[in-house]
Amino acid sequence: DKAGYRHFMAKEIAEQPTVLAGALSAYLDGDDIDFGEAGLDFTGTERLTMVACGTAYYACLTAKYWFERLAGLPVEVDIASEFRYREPPITSGTTALFVSQSGETADTLAALRYCRDKADRILSVVNVDESSIARESDLALPIHAGVEVGVASTKAFTCQLNVLLLMAIEAAFQRGRITAKEKAQHLADLRSLPGIFNVALERDEIIADSARDMVEARDVLFLGRGLMYPLALEGALKLKEISYVHAEAYASGELKHGPIALIDASVPVVVMAPRDSLFDKTVSNMQEVMARGGNVLLVTDAAGAAAAGSEVWRTIILPEVPEMLAPLLYALPAQLLAYHGAVAKGTDVDQPRNLAKSVTVE
Ligand code: M6R
Repeated sequence: DKAGYRHFMAKEIAEQPTVLAGALSAYLDGDDIDFGEAGLDFTGTERLTMVACGTAYYACLTAKYWFERLAGLPVEVDIASEFRYREPPITSGTTALFVSQSGETADTLAALRYCRDKADRILSVVNVDESSIARESDLALPIHAGVEVGVASTKAFTCQLNVLLLMAIEAAFQRGRITAKEKAQHLADLRSLPGIFNVALERDEIIADSARDMVEARDVLFLGRGLMYPLALEGALKLKEISYVHAEAYASGELKHGPIALIDASVPVVVMAPRDSLFDKTVSNMQEVMARGGNVLLVTDAAGAAAAGSEVWRTIILPEVPEMLAPLLYALPAQLLAYHGAVAKGTDVDQPRNLAKSVTVE
């Protein structure tokens, strides 16, 4: 049931404030995080190996920043189809973590089976509790996103990020990297996010306007640094997937190492950059783009918009949030851009050509 929306994807984007609030409360017990009866112990974990495909892979790339920065835990992230055939050595002390909305993705399941007798334990983050990946894990953590119908993953992504961030916060606490007070602050920040999601969704109109212009282009570039780099990848994937516009994402710092050659007035460049510790570096990348005639669509906060100058083609202003939470919030405009781009092009938003919701064959 589309609940009055034109597409399931629109409904699934719009329900994220409610869905995230529910998904979060499923894991919170007062000022504590509750991972269920067995609990989740990171004290003996020396490294995390995370494996997934598509959007779930980008959730893992985001989580790498969280686990490394908050918990000081080394993390490797791999695409399931690469991981399974590379057969990497898995040493003791390794926790293997698989992220999959459907829990049935063939490559992710094969990667899990490869780790079965090698990793200390197998964790998964899934939306379908009864799935193969959930069943074959030592512990499966549900994301509580509810059924996701649109082929383009939206609410599952933000709910995957939610669980992964909770895990990173818990790991940081158990490993003595943050105090109980800091942990409580992170949780309070997370609790405020569903309300902030509502504000981001109010940017719908300017995003739709930008998307209409953007899908006229043959190529679109997405740039992001740090936590925003996986988000840039996710934005580009969404756009390709449902609006069939070629989009490519780069870590902002890579611009000079090749992709800048593509820039001219015909290439819109989406820059995801809250005013964080890396913002100034991104502004200089943006200036390089604008100096070559590129049209920058900047997704930022009020401070970022003020600092970016007036040359920017369009600015989408989101509320300010603590740095660690930005990936969840910035996912929304990335999804809306792709959605409105697809609507403008008249593609089949919920069932894009050549794609299946669940990729159960390689
Ligand atoms: O069910 P999974 O999370 O394992 O699926 C992984 C990818 O196939 C999936 O995220 C795909 O990239 C989406 N269609 C992206 O929107």
